[in-house]
Amino acid sequence: MCGIAGYIGEEQAREIIIDGLKRLEYRGYDSAGVAIAGDKGLQIRKAVGRIENLEKLMAEEPVSGNLGIGHTRWATHGEPTKVNAHPHTNEDGTIAVVHNGIIENYAELRTWLKDEHGVTFKSETDTEVIAHLIGLMYKGDLLEAVFEAVSKLSGAYAIGVVCADEPDRIVAVRNDAPLIVGLGENCNFLASDIPAMLKYCRSIYFIENCETVLITKDEVTIFNAKREKVKRDIYHVTMDADAAEKGGHDHFMIKEIYEQPQGILKTIERRLDENGRVKLDGIKLTRKELSDIERVYIVACGTAYHAGLIGKYAIERFAGIPVEVDIASEFRYRNPFVNAKTLFICISQSGETLDTLMALREAKKKGARVLSIVNVVGSSVARESDDVFYTWAGPEIAVASTKAFTTQMVCLYLLALYMAAENGTLEEGQFTRVMDELKRTPELIREVLSRENAIKKIAKRIYKNENVFFIGRGLDASIAFEGALKLKEISYIHAFAIAAGELKHGTIALLDMDTLVITLASQTALNDKIVSNIKEVKARGAEVISLAKDGAVKIADESDDVIYIPECIDEVAPILAIVPLQLLAYHIAKLRGCDIDKPKNLAKSVTVE
Ligand code: G6P
Repeated sequence: MCGIAGYIGEEQAREIIIDGLKRLEYRGYDSAGVAIAGDKGLQIRKAVGRIENLEKLMAEEPVSGNLGIGHTRWATHGEPTKVNAHPHTNEDGTIAVVHNGIIENYAELRTWLKDEHGVTFKSETDTEVIAHLIGLMYKGDLLEAVFEAVSKLSGAYAIGVVCADEPDRIVAVRNDAPLIVGLGENCNFLASDIPAMLKYCRSIYFIENCETVLITKDEVTIFNAKREKVKRDIYHVTMDADAAEKGGHDHFMIKEIYEQPQGILKTIERRLDENGRVKLDGIKLTRKELSDIERVYIVACGTAYHAGLIGKYAIERFAGIPVEVDIASEFRYRNPFVNAKTLFICISQSGETLDTLMALREAKKKGARVLSIVNVVGSSVARESDDVFYTWAGPEIAVASTKAFTTQMVCLYLLALYMAAENGTLEEGQFTRVMDELKRTPELIREVLSRENAIKKIAKRIYKNENVFFIGRGLDASIAFEGALKLKEISYIHAFAIAAGELKHGTIALLDMDTLVITLASQTALNDKIVSNIKEVKARGAEVISLAKDGAVKIADESDDVIYIPECIDEVAPILAIVPLQLLAYHIAKLRGCDIDKPKNLAKSVTVE
C-alpha cells in the first residue's frame, strides 16, 4: 500500500527512484509519480496506472537532478487520477511531498488552510494538506517547517519532502507507517521497504515512530519528537538480492509457492535442538510463565488470520489452553478479555499491517504479553512485541500470500508442541508422532508440487466458472477460507467458503447446476461426515471437486473429480492441503489473463486502518 522511494547522491536520481518504485510494486498501487530537484527547480511527473506509464511520460518530458522522491499511490482519498497522484506541492510548487498513510484530521486542516490562508487545493487527497502546511511554515529551513507542520497532523503516515530552495536534502517523517533510510557511498536512500534499495546498499536505519530524519548526500540525522538527535544502530541486510527477483518464473506467486518446502525446512530447523525438541531461543516462555497463561489470543488479518484459525486448533489440542482468534480490525473495537494472564499472538507476514499493529498496542496496554509470528525482520510488529517467532519464508513479493501462510502454520504447530511439552499435556508418543510428521512436510509438499499438471488440467476445466464454494470440516474449514481467498483475490471469481456442516443453514439455497463446490476432505477422521455434505451438494446439481488424501475411495466415488495429496496424519494435513488450492488459484488466474502478482484494488502491506 503506497510506496516511497527517495535518493540523494551523485547519480541521476530518476533511474534509481523508478527502480526502487518497481521493487515496491508488490505493495499495490494505481498511480505513480516523482519529484526531482535539479537546476530547473522541482520537476514533477505523474501518471495513472503502472510505473511503465510514468516512465513513458519521463521519456517524453525528461527530468534531471541528483535528488528526488517517488511514490506509488494506492488510492484512499480521491480516485486514482493524475491530479490525485503524488507528489503534491504547495501553491508555488517549491515544496513536494509523498505520503503513505492517512491524515485523519485532513478535513479540518483543509478548511483552515482555505479559510484562513486562502489556499487553493488541486486534488482531493489528504496529502496535499501536508504540502500546503509545510509551505505555510517554511521560512527558509525545510527541517523546521516539517517539524512545525507535522505537529499539526494526526493519523498514520510516512512522508518524504523535498524543497526547490534546498536541493541538498530530503526530510522524512514516520508515524505508524514503515520508513527506512539506506546508507550508501556518497549517497543515501529513503524507502518504505528494503527491496527498494537492496541493489544499492545493505546498511539501513529503521526510522521509529514520531521520528524525523534529515538526509543529505553524506549524512543522515534522526530526531525524536522533541527534536533531539537520536543515535540508531545500523542494521545490516543479509537478504539475498535474488530472493526479491522472479528467478525464471512467470510470476512471484508461483516462485513463492515452490519455495514452500525450503521455507518450512528453515523455519523448523531453526527451532529444533539436537534432541528434536522445540527450542524457543530468545523467547522467554518458561514453564512458570506458561502456567500463568490462562488464555491465548491470536489476532491477524487476511491470510495470517486463517493461519491463526489453524493455530487455535493446534494450541487447544496439544497444549490444552483456550484460544480466541480475532480479526485485528475487530479486536480493538470490542472489549476483549485480555490481561496479564493472556498470551497475545500477533501473526503478520509484513509486520506492518496497521490493524494488527494497533491491536498489538491495545493488548499491551491491557497488560498482555505479546509474541508475534512475523516474516519481515525488524518490522514494526516485530519491534513492538515482547518476543518474535520469525517465519523464515524469505521475502514474499506476490500480493497473494502463500509461503508466509504455510510457515506461519508451522510456527504455530511448533509453538503448540513446545507448550504441550512444557505443560505435559501431550504424551511422548503423540508428541513424536506430530513432530515427525511436521518434519516430513517439506518432502510431502514437494510431492504435492510434482502433481501440478493434474491441477492445471482441472484449472482448464473450471476457469470460466463465476461462482465457487469451498467447504470443509474441522481444520479443513479454515483451509476452505484460505482457498477461497486465494481464488478471489487473484482471479476475481466469486468464491465463498463455509464450514461444511453450516451449509444447510442457509447457503445451500445458492447451489444449483451452475455452481462449483470444492470440498476439502483431508481430515480422514471426518470423512464420513464430509461424504454426507458432498451428497447434499450433488443433490442440488452442483459439480463437486474434492481434495483428499491418496486412496480416499469413498470421497472419489461421490465427487466429479479429486485433487489428491499424499497420505499424512490429519493434524498436519492443512499444511499440504492449501498447496493445491494455491496452484489452482494461480492457474485459473493465469487462464483468465489476470495480473497475478498485482491484483486490482489489493495491497500487500496494508498500512491504513
Ligand atoms: C493484505 C494482503 C494479504 C495479507 C494481509 C495481512 O490484505 O493482501 O495477503 O494476508 O494483508 O498481511 P500481513 O502482512 O499482516 O500478514
